Amino acid sequence: MLPHWIPYLGHGLSYVLDYAKLIGQARDHSREGIFTLRLLSWKHYVVLTPSLAKQVFAQRQSVLSTYNLFLRMQELVFGDKGLSAQVPELEEQYFHNLNVLMLNSAVMDASNRTASFVGKTIASLISFAKDPVDQMPWERVSDVRVLDERQAEGSLFTLVSRWAYCASMPAMFGQAFLDQCPMAMDDIFLFHAELPYLVTGLPAPNQKISEAMQARDRCREAVRRWFHAHKAVKEGKDPGAGWGDMKDISEFAKLQHRLMDDGGAPEEVVCANLLGFLILQHTNANLIAFWVLIHVYADPHLLQDIRAEVSPYISKLDEPASDTPSKSHYSIDHTSLSRLCPLIKATWLETMRVDVFGAVFKTIVKDFTITESAADAALFGRSDPRSYTLKAGGMVVIDNKASHSDPRLWQNPEQFDPSRFIIRDPLDGGKKKAVFTDQLYSFGGGHSMCKGRTFAERELLTFVAAIVTFWDIEYAGPKNEDGSWKVVKGTLAGSPHPRPDIRVKMSRRDPKLNAL
Ligand code: HEM
Repeated sequence: MLPHWIPYLGHGLSYVLDYAKLIGQARDHSREGIFTLRLLSWKHYVVLTPSLAKQVFAQRQSVLSTYNLFLRMQELVFGDKGLSAQVPELEEQYFHNLNVLMLNSAVMDASNRTASFVGKTIASLISFAKDPVDQMPWERVSDVRVLDERQAEGSLFTLVSRWAYCASMPAMFGQAFLDQCPMAMDDIFLFHAELPYLVTGLPAPNQKISEAMQARDRCREAVRRWFHAHKAVKEGKDPGAGWGDMKDISEFAKLQHRLMDDGGAPEEVVCANLLGFLILQHTNANLIAFWVLIHVYADPHLLQDIRAEVSPYISKLDEPASDTPSKSHYSIDHTSLSRLCPLIKATWLETMRVDVFGAVFKTIVKDFTITESAADAALFGRSDPRSYTLKAGGMVVIDNKASHSDPRLWQNPEQFDPSRFIIRDPLDGGKKKAVFTDQLYSFGGGHSMCKGRTFAERELLTFVAAIVTFWDIEYAGPKNEDGSWKVVKGTLAGSPHPRPDIRVKMSRRDPKLNAL
């Protein structure tokens, strides 16, 4: 237990004032792989080391649960008016259905569709149309200005996150959602940017938060319309103009629709579940793709090496009108990007280590005991592995920032170094391979571990490989004293948005150059 001086409040004040500082200092002072903070009457057990985290993740839901936190999010963030708690059997089945996302068929279907969109649009990511009416939807919101026939300036974060949304959203909810609810493309990110505040459930203190709440409400209305349109299609009724037959929605979306529809879920529960899923689908992968690009374009050698590595897996498709560069279509082999390109994959993993600040929280339902490994005890200069009993009523926290920057777990943690995730694979003739190490907790763990992680890897590698192959990007904003790009993270919770967005100059390159 970290010492605290204020009875009852415990560490609560420091927690609210500067959570990152509190956790960082506590980690540095701790002589154990786990330490405890007292927040009002709750104990937060912050777990740092891999052997302890592994045992935490291995606990059954009857011992460690995320259910209460889920209900809190449903009510305070996604607006279910507390009704999810009244249909626990539906929610249990909802979580069960999420496993479908991990099936190879679902991953391949979503990845193929996303890669196909990327292959069709990457050459026209910037269209060079001067009139916003002729621009692509993601350009219109990114303040793209054409400088000359080769170069345009725009806001990179907005451009990448919205383009990636257009690429992968139809793979789950179908093309009609994108066409019928165009505002959701921007709204989902406006809403997500203020999520840490929205979780408090407090009223909006300023215009920005109030706009985020309005964006959230519009997203909820969008998923509500999608749900009713699909219900109409299923019942052989008219879903309304523009929805079509909705045959292209994913098996997962069909399954969740059937569950909610047949189970007679209240509309608030339906909308909260769908909205929560949209957030999970887009607000990590799309944002992390941006942060990967920031690292890659800031380092010319890394950029060159990644371009060379991915080049064999991007090829031009023979299609009509392909003589016009901006209309050419490309095939992107996401399986090979994932299996045969260790550098781009390791760069993604290293980006998650340094830039994603998520934390996994689980409520302790029953006391349980965990024992550290000898290797983890040695990190603290001890030869005796210790056991710890975590008491019911407390909360387990695995905090990415505290663990991912711990010098006991990572050599030179402040350095951006993708090679820390690359090994020589003895089972494959010593070939280089990128591996997800035990002390990287970006996807959480246990029964609630991210169910979109396999698809996320493929789509993210596809986005990054395509952009580096087709676009030169030059920073157009103010720089730091050492000449590096000035990029400020808006929040240190989850996958951050840059504040302000960063302006870049972009020009289309000839992908054949990659072969050089
Ligand atoms: C690199 C991108 C991503 C990251 C870093 C990420 C991270 C996470 C994390 C930390 C959790 C909570 C895990 C826990 O509580 O133990 C989570 C849950 C989840 N994620 Fe992801 N995610 C990503 C992409 C995606 C995508 C693309 C999808 C959907 C296609 C998705 C769907 C989900 C779902 C459904 C859950 C809830 C799982 C459950 O409660 O059973 N995620 N994700």
